Amino acid sequence: MRLGIDFGTCYSFPAVVINGEPRSLLSMKTNNGNRGIPSVFYFDRRNGEMVGVKAEAYGNRNPECVVTNVKSELPNGTEYELDGVHYGAADICSRIIAKITSEANEQLETEFREHTVYEAVLSVPVRFGDKERTLLRKAAEVSRLDGGAGLTIKNFIQEPVAAAIDYGEMINTADQVLVYDLGGGTFDVALVIPTPFEEQPYRVVDFDGTEIGGKDFDEKFAVYLQGVFMRDCQIDLSRDARSRHDLLMAARKAKEELSDDTRTDVEVQFDGLFYDVSVSREEFEEATHDLITDTMEITSKLVERNNLVGSEHLHVVMVGGSSFMPQVKKGLQTILGEETKVHLHRPDKAIAFGAARFAANDNLVLQLAPFSYGTNTYAGDVEKIANMVLSKTPLPTPVVKHEFETLIDGQTSVLFGVYQNDGRDEYEDIDAGVKLMDITLGFSAPVPRGTPVYVEMSLGDDGILLIKAVDPATGSYETASINVVRMD
Ligand SMILES: Nc1ncnc2c1ncn2[C@@H]1O[C@H](COP(=O)(O)OP(=O)(O)OP(=O)(O)O)[C@@H](O)[C@H]1O
Ligand SMILES: [Mg+2]
Repeated sequence: MRLGIDFGTCYSFPAVVINGEPRSLLSMKTNNGNRGIPSVFYFDRRNGEMVGVKAEAYGNRNPECVVTNVKSELPNGTEYELDGVHYGAADICSRIIAKITSEANEQLETEFREHTVYEAVLSVPVRFGDKERTLLRKAAEVSRLDGGAGLTIKNFIQEPVAAAIDYGEMINTADQVLVYDLGGGTFDVALVIPTPFEEQPYRVVDFDGTEIGGKDFDEKFAVYLQGVFMRDCQIDLSRDARSRHDLLMAARKAKEELSDDTRTDVEVQFDGLFYDVSVSREEFEEATHDLITDTMEITSKLVERNNLVGSEHLHVVMVGGSSFMPQVKKGLQTILGEETKVHLHRPDKAIAFGAARFAANDNLVLQLAPFSYGTNTYAGDVEKIANMVLSKTPLPTPVVKHEFETLIDGQTSVLFGVYQNDGRDEYEDIDAGVKLMDITLGFSAPVPRGTPVYVEMSLGDDGILLIKAVDPATGSYETASINVVRMD
């Protein structure tokens, strides 16, 4: 048995498939209105470390000892100092993952009488590449659970793909499923289609995403509200850390209220006095217009390149807490036409449920190459990446060969760097890539400049990138491989 874990920027959700059905593994303690376990960490010397609901509560009283949105900071390796103690973003992720896992195991035992589970599938934003996946995998591995063991991440699945699978399995459709997932830290979109094959019932068709989430709406709205409080109450809520924290919390609360009501009151405390102002949904939408527009542009491009406008065989589902904002549905309806049905599907737990379904069956979905991959080369003086596997190509990708020549006289070997990148062109800028590894091809004797060599590359449906560097003169070669989807 394996867990499915949606490790979110704001909330995390563990789930498992039991008797073919996905089940939530939130305990009564941390159920938190079913939103998930807050991905919040708190530390002070007197009270120690805390994660979840309790951390959130302590953090409201003592904002300098709390860390929120750590998932967004993981790729940057942000360092925190809490009450004089240093934590890295990965340490904090590790503690949050440990908490989710131990909650899940507690629930497995008390509700389902199952044994402790040390393996999981983790859902990730579509833009999480090798580096982010490796950091998460390591954070999970060092998260010591009750038995002293860490959590082994057996596989990853893109968040909107997980949600699409959960939806597809629940309503059992033969139609394409478009998922718009606006969470706390990232926006992700995917198009998934059921296949006629029992072996692999879903196939990913397309995906995209960007680093926009609910926290950005909070920040933009907070800036707007600061101006309103300044104008109407003559108080400056940007004055100190405490006021800024309270303002951000108030902005988030008002944002959520404005999903249900067209007007709301925002109250803050400043120098021991209470102040309040009234704001409308229109004001909120105007202050955050750019953010929603960016997500709609990404969605619109995906819709266009897949000819989805007016399609009768399309289900559009919204997941992620930020999809409660009425402007999301409005925007999607504008892109897809009023006739297309757009609806929410278990916005809090669809991703965890999809991850759990994938955890129970590795073959549930055929994924696409998450990024492009190639090796470095020189075009004149400029170092470039020569791509051989293009992102979004269905797996397994064809074996693509790229020819190179040695650069200087007397070379005894050639060193190729293997790069991950976002672009879909044959040549991409080296700066846009992330180096994954090196592969060296040696010659038996020094060779003249301009000696031809070639590299072949492909990405298998097991997620393994195979690289082969060949010396065509002798037929000798060197191979390397790396698991870029991170299956075991
Ligand atoms: N009713 C609502 N109206 C507007 N926003 C809401 C509402 N409910 C929740 N949110 C926002 O949704 C976000 C959390 O959503 P969710 O739990 O899906 O994110 P996450 O999974 O933690 O993040 P991510 O998937 O980006 O890593 C928060 O920014 C929260 O303020
Ligand atoms: Mg999410």
